[in-house]
Amino acid sequence: MSSTVPAGMRPGGLQASAGRAELVCFEPSCRTRFAITDVLYNCPKCDGLLEAIYEYDGRGPEDLKRLFRERRMSNAPLDSSGVWRYRELLPFLDDYTHVVTLREGNTPLLDAPLAARYGGLDRITFKHQGFNPTGSFKDNGMTCGAAQARRLNMKRVACVSTGNTSASMAAYAAAGGMEALIFLPHGNISFGKLAQALEYGAKTLEVEANFDEILALVRVLAQKLGIYLLNSMNPFRVEGQKSIMFEMLDQRDWRVPDWVVLPGGNLGNTSAFGKALREARDLGMIDKLPRIAVIQAAGAAPFYRMWKDGAALQAVTKPETLATAIRIGDPVSWPKALHEVRTSNGVVEQVSEQEIADAKAQIGRAGIGCEPASAATLAGIRKLTDAGVIDKAADVVAVLTGNVLKDTDYIYKYHTNQLEAPGGVKIRSNFGNRSIVVPNDADRIAEMLR
Ligand code: F0G
Repeated sequence: MSSTVPAGMRPGGLQASAGRAELVCFEPSCRTRFAITDVLYNCPKCDGLLEAIYEYDGRGPEDLKRLFRERRMSNAPLDSSGVWRYRELLPFLDDYTHVVTLREGNTPLLDAPLAARYGGLDRITFKHQGFNPTGSFKDNGMTCGAAQARRLNMKRVACVSTGNTSASMAAYAAAGGMEALIFLPHGNISFGKLAQALEYGAKTLEVEANFDEILALVRVLAQKLGIYLLNSMNPFRVEGQKSIMFEMLDQRDWRVPDWVVLPGGNLGNTSAFGKALREARDLGMIDKLPRIAVIQAAGAAPFYRMWKDGAALQAVTKPETLATAIRIGDPVSWPKALHEVRTSNGVVEQVSEQEIADAKAQIGRAGIGCEPASAATLAGIRKLTDAGVIDKAADVVAVLTGNVLKDTDYIYKYHTNQLEAPGGVKIRSNFGNRSIVVPNDADRIAEMLR
C-alpha cells in the first residue's frame, strides 16, 4: 500500500490555496504574520509561539459534517485518514501530493463502565489514540508535519522526544522518503519506543541530558544544519492533532461532552485540542466548548503549579516520573495551553505515581489498556470527582494518548510488585496480577483451577 498520495488520487472537496493560510505569532501584543511556507518555529520578532490561521472556504457547518461523514465510505488515501478526512479544517497545504499517510487517526471511542466507577463517574468514554499506526496520538500531528516538510523540500527532519514523537517521526520520515534524526534522553525512554525508532530506520542519538536540555540543543543543530524540526512547537503538528477533537465530535454526531481530559507534558496536545474546539465553535459546528482538564504527573508538574499559584511558569529542573512520556519540566507550549484551559473554563490537576499506576491497572482491567502517561487522565478524574470539580453525572471524554504495549517493563514490574518511583519509593501493586508457574501436569493444573 502506498503511503504518499499520488496526484491522480486527489479526492474532491475544497482544496486550500496557499494564499488563504498564514502563520501568525500567538502573542496578543505581537500577532505578526508570516507566509505559511516560512521555516519558522518561533516568532522572529518576539520569540512567541506560532500558529496557523485561515480564511476558510464558505462551506457551511452542515455541509462540512455531511462531507466528513461521506468520506468514511471512501477508499481514497486522504479520505481514509482520520486526519486528512477533516482537511477543510486544517487547510494549510496547497497540494495534497505532499501528504504522507499511514491511515492515522480512525481511533475508537470506548465505553468503560468499570473504569468510570473507579473515576467516580456514572460513565466515561475513552478516545484511544493508542490505536494509531505507531501507537500514539503523535501520528495525528506527524502526518501534517511530514507533509509540510515535504512541501518545503526538506531532506532531513529531527526531533527530541520522550519516545512517542520519535517513533512517529521515524515512521513518517521513512514512509515519505526523508532522513530522520532523533535525539533521546539516554536511559529515560521505554525500550518499546526506542525499538520503534530503530526499526523505522532513524538515526538515533541518545544524549546524556533531559528532554528540556536536549530541545535547546536540537534547536541549535537544526539551525546549523538546515534540518526541519518536528517537535510540537511546530505549528503543523498542532494542526494535525486538532483532528483528534474533530474525529471525537464526528463520532458523537457533534454532541459536545462536558469535559475533555488529557495528560499534559510539553502541552502541544492541550494547545491543539483547545484550538480545534474554538475553531469548530467559530465555524458553527458546535455551539459550546467542553471544559478541558489537563493532568500532570506530580514530579513533572510546572503547569499545574503555575495554574494553582497563579504565578509565572517556573520550570522544574529535574522532572521525575515513571510516566516517562510526560517527564518534562519546561513545557514549550504553555502560553497556548494556558489560553485554552482558561478559555474553556478548564482546570489543571496533578497526580502521584501511585495514582497513575493504579488508574492504569484499572484501564487495563476494562480490557482497554494504555501506557502510563495516558492513565494520568483516569487518576486525575478520580481526584476531580472526589473534589466535586467534575460532577458524577458529567459526560466525560478522556484521551488515552498511547498504546498499552509502549511500556511493558512498567506493566510487568507493577504486577510483580517491583515498581519503584523515582527516589526509591515503592509503588504498591494494589491491582496486581501475577502469572503462576505450574508443572506440565494436567491433573495438578486442573486441581489448582478448580
Ligand atoms: N501522553 C503520551 C503518551 C505522550 O507521549 C506525550 C508526549 C504526552 C501524553 C504529553 O503530550 O507533550 O502534547 O502535552 N510525548 C512527547 C514525546 C513529549 O516526545 O513523545 P504533550
